[in-house]
Amino acid sequence: MINANTFIERRNALRDSMKNSGGIIVFPANNEAPMNYSSNVYRYRQDSTFRYFFSKCRDGVFGVVDIDGGVDILFGNDFTIDDIIWMGDQPTIAALGKESGITDTRTIADFETFIATALKQGRRIHYLPPYRHDVIINLASLLDKPVDMVNTGASLELIKAVVELRLIKSADEVVELDKVCDVGVMMHQAVMKNAKAGVTEQYLAGLAEGISLSYGTGNSFPIILSQDGQTLHNPFHHGTLTEGRILLVDMGAESESGYCSDYTRALPVSGKFTPKQKEIYEIVLKANVDSIAMARPNIKWQDVHFFACRTLAEGLIAAGLMKGNADDAVRVGATSLFMPHGLGHALGMDVHDMEGLGENNVGYDDVVQRSTIFGHRSLRFGKYTKVGHVLTVEPGIYFIPNLIEQWKAEGRHKEFINYDKLAEYYNFGGIRIEDDIVITNDGCRVLGKPLQKGVAELESFMN
Ligand code: GLY
Ligand code: MN
Repeated sequence: MINANTFIERRNALRDSMKNSGGIIVFPANNEAPMNYSSNVYRYRQDSTFRYFFSKCRDGVFGVVDIDGGVDILFGNDFTIDDIIWMGDQPTIAALGKESGITDTRTIADFETFIATALKQGRRIHYLPPYRHDVIINLASLLDKPVDMVNTGASLELIKAVVELRLIKSADEVVELDKVCDVGVMMHQAVMKNAKAGVTEQYLAGLAEGISLSYGTGNSFPIILSQDGQTLHNPFHHGTLTEGRILLVDMGAESESGYCSDYTRALPVSGKFTPKQKEIYEIVLKANVDSIAMARPNIKWQDVHFFACRTLAEGLIAAGLMKGNADDAVRVGATSLFMPHGLGHALGMDVHDMEGLGENNVGYDDVVQRSTIFGHRSLRFGKYTKVGHVLTVEPGIYFIPNLIEQWKAEGRHKEFINYDKLAEYYNFGGIRIEDDIVITNDGCRVLGKPLQKGVAELESFMN
């Protein structure tokens, strides 16, 4: 449970790190998003950074941190009797302010005056890059800017200060992450128990989503559950499970407290991997286990990514699908044919934590630069780890026929890839094994209750 004092401390820490910039910081809450008419809305999702500084609160409000004035203000209108008739009695803005330790609460009309005055006084108005169109339009009107200039006007100093704070998870936050990881484990175990030939992917996705809703606020992102696991973010659940195939399941939950989990497992529909599947599965598993064993404070995460790719290369060479020197294959990006994505990403209140603030602002800095090589460049977090970082570890091997065909036609990295042997793998699909870790003083800890991933324990659990 995050209490009011924590929100006060977070805002004070932010004010402190922004004191050289001066001005005011505006955090717009997310609004309700209509599905088809204004009162029929999608599941409400508060903006994560707003929530980090002002608690969940509600739609239609603005949080302000006045850097020079040393005050925090929550602006919003109280519900009218018409709202209360339909929705029941609602907390007042004053009561919502108390939840995050704010005593100065005012109306939206006051907010408009406040911003107009700040503009007239030439004060700096910092805001984060908005990602919702209604918020962009709202900021454009408040700040008297063209809509297409709102994003470019976002404050880089603020982005950096927020990333610095949110990236390090406190003990309270890790408690919440552990709990939401447990829900992710339950979702996966329900699918493991029910995955068998004849069952539809849609049924399994619904089963898992039901668990995420029963124990929290739903999925942390749209569930990936498909026998076409070679498509990295396959959003479709159109298939029916078929003997002999692999079902890739990538999903996690979001908790009432606003934290996310993210796990991936690859399941043999028949309840037992074929020798060919097992061979590839064991390579990915080794990359997952060895990367977790390597994780500790002050290690360049980009190096752990390269290390995982080398483990994949060594396994693929042993399996006859690659050849040559494993380190060289990683360096030139030949392994990206099999894993065209990064080892993992930051996790927290967003499943890809703070990606809305710019991937490079979260995962890279002046010391560690993003690779420009296909595959390696998709690593979202590459910088040195610190105690309290929460990351996913998710190596994979995929057989993507279109990509293989393209590389083969170009003769790309042919000194490292046995293209002829790959023809036997066009219907294989993909395998990814993903766990969530927190960096600790002496290494890392896998969050949540253990989720089966060894071949024997997985097969035995499924059966
Ligand atoms: N689990 C989805 C992703 O990491 O992109
Ligand atoms: Mn992930």
